[in-house]
Amino acid sequence: MTLSTHAATKAAWRRTAAAAIAVARRAVGDHAAVSPASDAARDEVRSDAADAGLRAFRRIVHGRSSARGFRPDAPVPDAVWRDILHMTRTAPSGFNLQPTHVVLLRSPEIKRTLAEHAMLGYGNKRRTIDASGIAVFCSDMRPGMRVGRIHELERDAGAREDGYLAVMRVASTFLTGDGGGASSFARRAFANALSPVRPMPTMEDVGMWSYKNAGIMSQMYVMAASAHGLSTCMMEGYDARRAMEILRVPNGRYGVPIMVATGYERGAPPVAHADPGGEYDEGVDDSRERRRAPRLGMSELFFGDTFGEPLDFLLDHDDTSSERENMQRR
Ligand SMILES: Cc1cc2nc3c(=O)[nH]c(=O)nc-3n(C[C@H](O)[C@H](O)[C@H](O)COP(=O)(O)O)c2cc1C
Repeated sequence: MTLSTHAATKAAWRRTAAAAIAVARRAVGDHAAVSPASDAARDEVRSDAADAGLRAFRRIVHGRSSARGFRPDAPVPDAVWRDILHMTRTAPSGFNLQPTHVVLLRSPEIKRTLAEHAMLGYGNKRRTIDASGIAVFCSDMRPGMRVGRIHELERDAGAREDGYLAVMRVASTFLTGDGGGASSFARRAFANALSPVRPMPTMEDVGMWSYKNAGIMSQMYVMAASAHGLSTCMMEGYDARRAMEILRVPNGRYGVPIMVATGYERGAPPVAHADPGGEYDEGVDDSRERRRAPRLGMSELFFGDTFGEPLDFLLDHDDTSSERENMQRR
């Protein structure tokens, strides 16, 4: 059986099953009495949605490739950026510390400066100038400094067991490798000594830990942008020290492991954007959304053009004032 006939047979079977269930419901006149059939109907609906989700995701995954060139002067609508960043924020992170900020660079002047003074190679320079936006991922190299804020966020949201919150501070400094110097050395020696006897946390270098988290978040960003029909190109060919200076990323505290040029690919068919007005939770399983560990505010994580600069399109769409107060408290 070919895939398409198989799919058609499955769909026909589903229609028949759904019709039979509806008849059974009417005949008995009591939904509870046909609960096994109701369950079956629900499962059918779920599996239709799952099929559609899988097909859509597969299209996005196979449709992505790194863009070689971008159409200049083709801005991405604010609503599209906003939705991409909302999806990006759902990326998981170690201890939910959310150690990655994104500077979404769209200013033509700053893009040009970055291209001229920090990007390596003709391709990266050209892409930086032409792409609608460059998402610059900034990794916190002192993730321990975030623990207090995240602890508070999780406690207030009632998102964790008390036991978890009690050990989070110590456990997170262990795993992130933050702390530096003698204490890190002592913890690593302790873990290495006990490892032959019992499983111990792997103590990574803090940069590796933080860059790992940025990799996960940047991939989420790429998939979100791809789902919106945009093209991307991850870039590591740049002088990070110079880039940080241009984008005012606090040196010593952050590193820049990756940038993602984003926009409309040169020579590709025009993109007809889906209506992002459907809001972020459309089609989302609510209970799963509620169970997700709380995230930092959009304006805490995402900046415009330079580090710490608010993104204009988030200003009137978010609880930004309380988020900014939180930032100032840090
Ligand atoms: C971490 C990372 C860094 C990259 N850096 C660059 C870069 O600086 N310049 C560039 O043109 N492509 C860069 N790429 C894109 C790769 O060349 C590209 O992903 C790879 O050739 C596979 O092609 P595809 O993305 O079209 O599947 C990078 C990709 C990754 C994952």
